[in-house]
Amino acid sequence: MTGGPPRACVLGWPVRQSRSPLIHRHWLATYGVDGAYDPAEVRPEDFAAFVRGFAASGIVGGNVTVPHKEAAFALVDEAAPSAAALGAVNTLWLESGRLLGANTDGIGFLANLDEGARGWEGERSVAIVLGAGGAARAVVHALAERGFDKVVVLNRTASKAEAVAALAGRAGVAGGVDDLPRWLPRADVLVNATSLGMAGKGTLGVGLAGLRGGTVVNDLVYVPLETELLAQARARGNRVVDGLGMLLHQAVPGFERWFGVRPAVTPELRALAVADIETRA
Ligand code: ATR
Repeated sequence: MTGGPPRACVLGWPVRQSRSPLIHRHWLATYGVDGAYDPAEVRPEDFAAFVRGFAASGIVGGNVTVPHKEAAFALVDEAAPSAAALGAVNTLWLESGRLLGANTDGIGFLANLDEGARGWEGERSVAIVLGAGGAARAVVHALAERGFDKVVVLNRTASKAEAVAALAGRAGVAGGVDDLPRWLPRADVLVNATSLGMAGKGTLGVGLAGLRGGTVVNDLVYVPLETELLAQARARGNRVVDGLGMLLHQAVPGFERWFGVRPAVTPELRALAVADIETRA
């Protein structure tokens, strides 16, 4: 171990796009913690060596982003249940010399909805998730843990929808985007977990005819904050939740482990992140 204040980092390739330094540096300053949080641009072939060198470099842990989440899972001495279920780690920390890993995306997703739309679960009957990538995996697992009877995964590529629906166990149902009109009238919550709607990508282009007034609509995309899907749902009078809160809330457990203070997601932090999105969308 080197002496000095604890250091944490975000590991990615590339890492420039990560907003984790903005979040954690805000908390370090807010809570007066003597520590550091830095981006670490690490190539896939260097990832294992970098992580094994944490202790020697005075690093107490870090966040893991694309493309390293599965590699991080393979490296840990112990995976929290969230990470074991998903086969992916986004938060690493050292404990008594051992490398531990968790996946906090599901926690972030649920906390964002709990904060943004109280009672969003409705009857916990049907949740619809559009998409079957890495983000969808965490969301589907979290919705099943929250107790939804059916977690319906609709995706362009059917084989991926089936694999992701399996993460919800008996609650999982897989289908194509064509099945949306059939499920929509039964949904308590509708989540976009595809990359569509993000600035520079195509639009999602789904119709919301048949959506009940009480259904909460959430988009994981947060650039822009108000996607076409959210605008469409809002125009119908539905409650909507943007994706920024998931990013902010998923960061909480890591900061607490590395620096010993449980940080709060405040309007001030959100405003900082919004300003950052506006200046470098
Ligand atoms: P992430 O890690 O952010 O979830 P990802 O793993 O690349 O990103 O997943 C992107 C998701 O958006 C997938 O569900 C993808 O559908 P496929 O599984 O069929 O590839 C979906 N997606 C991306 N571009 C799409 C498009 N043009 N039309 C429909 N779905 C799209």
